[in-house]
Amino acid sequence: MRLTDLDAAGLETLLAAAVAAPSLHNTQPWHFRADPQRQVLEVHAVPERSVPLADPLGRAQHLSVGAAVFNLRIAAAHLARRAEVRLLPDPARPEVLATVRPARGADLPPSPEPDLYRAVARRHTSRMPFTGRPVPEPVVAELTAAAYAEGARLYVPDYSATRRLLRLTAVAEARTHAHPARTAETRAWITAPGTGTGYGIPVTALGPPDAAGRMPMRDFTGRAGVLRRPALPFERHAQVALLWTAYDRREDWLRAGQALQRVLLTATAHGVRTSMLHQAMEWPDLRMAARGPRRQRCHPQLLIRFGYGPDGNRTPRTFRGGPASQQ
Ligand SMILES: Cc1cc2nc3c(=O)[nH]c(=O)nc-3n(C[C@H](O)[C@H](O)[C@H](O)COP(=O)(O)O)c2cc1C
Repeated sequence: MRLTDLDAAGLETLLAAAVAAPSLHNTQPWHFRADPQRQVLEVHAVPERSVPLADPLGRAQHLSVGAAVFNLRIAAAHLARRAEVRLLPDPARPEVLATVRPARGADLPPSPEPDLYRAVARRHTSRMPFTGRPVPEPVVAELTAAAYAEGARLYVPDYSATRRLLRLTAVAEARTHAHPARTAETRAWITAPGTGTGYGIPVTALGPPDAAGRMPMRDFTGRAGVLRRPALPFERHAQVALLWTAYDRREDWLRAGQALQRVLLTATAHGVRTSMLHQAMEWPDLRMAARGPRRQRCHPQLLIRFGYGPDGNRTPRTFRGGPASQQ
């Protein structure tokens, strides 16, 4: 199967990059289908890999798929192609979230930096404590610019606003913990060593809780907490950034996902580790409160924690290479 003259190896490069994207609970809620007639790669959402209680509208699912679309774009650039992307291309087929055409040609809009391609394979979530060494202002400015370039915004709060966002996250975490069905839903995506299906998060990739109780990391281990790691002290002054968009439609979620991935890869390229705190986004009142007092047209999408520190363990993907249609 060839797509705009890409051979099987080229297609595999695209797909391997796409599936390296982050996704809520590593659900990998995407399916790729090459359409030789229209010469595009269709990116579908997979309804069975949704998280209905935490993500009833599929907003986080769109973020995850948007991140995969960004990776397709930079993999296309790596292959000296320009990715022509259409979001939600066909109202009659709402499951097709995007099409990507890895086109040849000089008169097309510029692709994102090919340099970021190298960061795709290196990036992964680190749920470990960071050292507390501050990420310098010029790097933070680059992260902000990365979100802006994709049509989203990154709000980097000061000390007291950071505490407020972490408090909202802690409230969300406590609510989820007190909600048996939600706790069970999260727990269902955790896999024990050797039992993994390629989806979900292995226990080895989880982090410890904060011994000081300040950093509201997500507790994936459920009420019994048998898999919970011993607590460790986290950085005293967390650096976080709130990704937000001016509107809250499906296309905004897909743009936010592309912005998320551009931010994460830019951080990775600078040796900065990242993890995500999505808990407050899963409760409408807390998501609204995360706007802060003066933000009228601000729709929070995700809180990103960043800093220097240990790598954390990797989380597998299901892609084994080769096919033009991949789920
Ligand atoms: C929309 C979204 C929300 C996420 N929320 C959380 C979260 O609340 N806590 C967390 O530890 N990881 C969160 N993650 C990270 C995923 O668990 C992670 O991307 C996935 O397990 C794949 O692992 P990797 O990022 O190491 O490749 C989130 C990722 C996305 C895309």
